[in-house]
Amino acid sequence: MRFIQCKDYAELSLTAAKIMQEKIIQKPNAVLGLATGSTPVGMYQNLVKMHREEGLDFSAVSSYNLDEYYPLSSDDSQSYRYFMNQNLFDHINIDKSRTHVPSGEAKDPEAECARYEELLASSGGVDIQVLGIGENGHIGFNEPADILHAKTHLIHLTQDTIAVNARFFEKIEDVPTKALTMGMGSIMSAKTILLLISGAKKHRVLRSLFDDSITTQIPATLLKTHSDVIVIYDDAAYHG
Ligand code: GLP
Repeated sequence: MRFIQCKDYAELSLTAAKIMQEKIIQKPNAVLGLATGSTPVGMYQNLVKMHREEGLDFSAVSSYNLDEYYPLSSDDSQSYRYFMNQNLFDHINIDKSRTHVPSGEAKDPEAECARYEELLASSGGVDIQVLGIGENGHIGFNEPADILHAKTHLIHLTQDTIAVNARFFEKIEDVPTKALTMGMGSIMSAKTILLLISGAKKHRVLRSLFDDSITTQIPATLLKTHSDVIVIYDDAAYHG
């Protein structure tokens, strides 16, 4: 793991966007792995700015998102498809037919997970995978557990995650209790991983990345076995 410390969220967002920009310039048809949550929003804003002001070209890029609530319509303003459109896709020249998010509308979630995993495999591999992180160390929606799953799967969210994510909903009862998420193997198959960690609430989980221990109870620690992970964090996450 390579660690980059930034003084604040703005610097973290710009640093992450520059790494993405470099990848897209190097490889115009790059396959991007994208994430939701509040942490990558600043990076997306910088990418939109780079598109508008510097002509950063997304026309040949394709993308795969990590996860989606289940069941949930993609038109729902709480869906991760909606989030991606609002925060990035609607503001850049990406071909929407090349943007992929697991479908929270699928009748058969297992079949949808298998379809998504096949789609990912047919992409030739994600060039750079952006990750946020849950306070409990989840990545995508791979929650702490004795057993983690390698492939895209349906998961029951932990009470902790439901409580943390309730801030985006009117009331906690509105938070879906399930999600479809890429598995640990799907995430780890990306060539490069960009993990963004911001804010004092992520202090504990950031510290767990500094030694060489690995535990399924903090899923992000498995990233230590990947050969190309860049962790970008801010002072607030470092000092707690
Ligand atoms: C959700 C997403 C994760 C994200 C996490 C952290 O649970 N499934 O992909 O990393 O939230 O979100 P935030 O960046 O808002 O702290």
